[in-house]
Formats: sequence, structure tokens, C-alpha cells
Amino acid sequence: MSEFLLTRLRKRVKHGQPIVSITAYDYFTALLARAADVDFVLVGDSLGNVVQGAETTVGVSLDQVIYHTRIVCDHFPPERVVLDMPFGTFKLDADETVSNCVRAFKESGCGAVKFEGANNENLFAVRTLTEAGVPVLGHLGLLPQRVHTEGGYKVQGKTRAQADELSREALALQKAGAFGVVLECVVPEVTARITAELKIPTIGIGAGLECDGQIIVVHDILGMLPGDAPSFVRRYAELYDTATDAVRQYADDVRAQRFPSGPRAARGEHAGRYGGEG
Ligand code: KIV
Repeated sequence: MSEFLLTRLRKRVKHGQPIVSITAYDYFTALLARAADVDFVLVGDSLGNVVQGAETTVGVSLDQVIYHTRIVCDHFPPERVVLDMPFGTFKLDADETVSNCVRAFKESGCGAVKFEGANNENLFAVRTLTEAGVPVLGHLGLLPQRVHTEGGYKVQGKTRAQADELSREALALQKAGAFGVVLECVVPEVTARITAELKIPTIGIGAGLECDGQIIVVHDILGMLPGDAPSFVRRYAELYDTATDAVRQYADDVRAQRFPSGPRAARGEHAGRYGGEG
């Protein structure tokens, strides 16, 4: 068994080392997370955007998140996999939130769950789940599941009232037992304030440097999709362009009968993934 998530995060905070996290949805992205030895991965409901190609995360189902989380848990230490509860599975009714989270935790084999917001139903659920043995990561600031009521993706904490409200919610999540809080697109000064106020770690995304760690959607830093990423993203690769060129070259080669080539291909031999020597 690998190190437990909470132990690892506490160690990072104690030694002043930033917590590193990315999203993961499948074998490939789990392998990338493992290679970089990130502290935890989130099977985000952003899979609606980056895997399913949807405009919002609202259509993602619990079954889909469980399916992707199982795959990730097979290839990354499951204790450090966090499952993101999708729209409609929490917040509305505390008892339902608890039973949905318990089901997701048991069926996926993950080490923790996350859900957005800190209304009374969520706070009750965080308390119950934590007591029952399900670690919960909170998520405040920009809540992608509220994009329709918010009228878009907007930076949070711009006014004094918003900043106070975010701080109050973060403290309430901590009191309820959350082991950490994701702060998404929060004004950096407000992130710094909340990080100073909390004993549990803050994990930022588009929220500046002054948190205990950073999380990012892996497709965004790898340039895996066409179009613009959010403005706070730094591109470390342009995989969409590279892969598009590669597939175009392959298509050109097949059409021009340049692929397959070589004496083994001519004899119909193949090796490797499809069954060793052909
Ligand atoms: O779904 C997701 O990927 C997330 C991150 C943006 C934190 O919630």
C-alpha cells in the first residue's frame, strides 16, 4: 500500500513543500502523474470538457466518474486519487450526498472525494463522511457546476463581501472536517488570506502562488486540445499539434502506399502488443 493522502499532504505542509496535483482520467494521464510523482490526482468532472468535449461539466454522471476513477486507480496509487462528485450528486440533500459519496468511494476504490461549495447540506455531509472514514476535499471560488447561474467563468473574491464570504466558507469546511480546500480563480490576495487563516492546505487553480499547492487540468498544460486554455495556464507542450501532424503523416503514408514498409511488413510479420512474433 502506498502512502495515505492525508499523511503525504501533512508532510508537504510541515516541510514547506508545495503540494502538486493534476487531473487524470485514464491510463495515459495516470501514467504521466505517476512519472512526475505528483502528490495526488483528481479525476475531475472536467472530464466533461476535456474527455467528452462538452461545453460544461453539468452532463457528467456519477457512473462515468466512477468508471474513469477505477481506471486511474489501477495505474496510480489509489489512496492518492480524489474523485470529483458531478453535478446533482451532492449539495441538494445531505443524506443523498452522503450515500452518493459512499457509493463512489466504495465502487471506485479512490482515497477521497471532492465536491463544490459549502452550503449547510454540504457541511453536514462533510462532517458525516469524515466521521465515517471518507476524506473530503472542499472546492470554493469559481464553481464550474454553477456556470449557468453565474453567467460564465468569473474571477472570485473581487469585493470585500465576496472575500469575507469565501473566508467564512473555507473555515466552515475546515470545521466540518474537510482535509483541504481547492480555491479556483480566486483573487491572489484573498487566496493568501484564506491560506493564512486555515490549518488545512489550500490547493489553488488560477488563484496565485500563495496557497499550499497547485492543481491543473492536465490537458491544458499539455496543449492536448485545440483552442485557448484559461489565461492562468502555462503550456508545457503542444501535444494536439504534434499528434495532428503525426496522424496526418500516417494518413498520407497509407494513401501513398509508403506504410507499411520493409521486409518484415511485406512478409506480414508483427511483434509486440498484438501477440509477439507474428
Ligand atoms: O474538475 C476539475 O478538473 C476540477 C479542477 C479544476 C480543480 O475541479
